[in-house]
Amino acid sequence: MASGLSKPVILSNAPRSILGEGPIWLPDTGVLYWVDILGDRVHSYRLSSGVAESIKVGPYPSCVMPNDDGNLVVTVKDRVILVNPRDGSVIRTLATVNEGAGNRFNDCKCDPMGRLVAGTMDMGERNPTGSLYILDSAGLRKILGSVTISNGIAWSGDGSVMYYIDSPTRRVTVFKYSKGEGALDGVIGYFDLSSFPGVPDGMTIDSEGYPWVALYGGGRVLRINPVNGNVVDQVELPAQFTTSCTFGGVDLKTLFITTATDRSRQTSGPDGYVFSLNLNIKGTVVNKCRF
Ligand code: BGC
Ligand code: CA
Repeated sequence: MASGLSKPVILSNAPRSILGEGPIWLPDTGVLYWVDILGDRVHSYRLSSGVAESIKVGPYPSCVMPNDDGNLVVTVKDRVILVNPRDGSVIRTLATVNEGAGNRFNDCKCDPMGRLVAGTMDMGERNPTGSLYILDSAGLRKILGSVTISNGIAWSGDGSVMYYIDSPTRRVTVFKYSKGEGALDGVIGYFDLSSFPGVPDGMTIDSEGYPWVALYGGGRVLRINPVNGNVVDQVELPAQFTTSCTFGGVDLKTLFITTATDRSRQTSGPDGYVFSLNLNIKGTVVNKCRF
């Protein structure tokens, strides 16, 4: 257990997911959102009241982001859609990709300028048939190919660096990012996580610029020094399939961690729940999309 941290506890009264993913905290409303990719739901949880709600959006809702008009940008199987958070109705389709039946969208984030960066994956989790895309008012364009399981995305505070995870590589790739253009500007380096159990999945970044990476199958979240890639802290969870994390709470010092159930049903335990723990480090809030 990392120093100075509380123990992760199950977020009480929050729904359990089959493949819980992509938590985000919306400070304006004090609501946590996440998706259940295999349960076809976008879940929300108002922290002050503990009231949870779910909307059915699918198939395969893999990522949810706030839009600056109060609606939600959601990636589903092969589309990016704008959704009304009150009833889950689709306002419009923002983009469609044509990668065939074997692929689907996975994790996404909005960049500092409000563009959506979203990746795809091979649902068989074997072949590098996925890509990373950028969507803005000019449309959708591919910024990276040959990805197998596109996952965590985060930017440095000044937006000049983008951290990115293709899970089977078991590393975080550090790209130079052109905020003006919305483009990757070459690889700066890698954070090799292959000595840790599981594969890197979702990611957030704290206010000191340290990425936090969930290890799917590793039952933990790592805090990484961005200068040298050293793992400086880790939080262990009683659930093995930790998928992603985000900071929230009134002071942005609560870490929320989503988990998945073991789809081969080999283990039993509190998997599929959202966990929370209090930290002495402040997080960052996700950028809103502007569509
Ligand atoms: C994907 C899962 C995959 C996991 C680990 C998740 O983001 O949605 O299908 O098993 O990453 O790579
Ligand atoms: Ca993920």
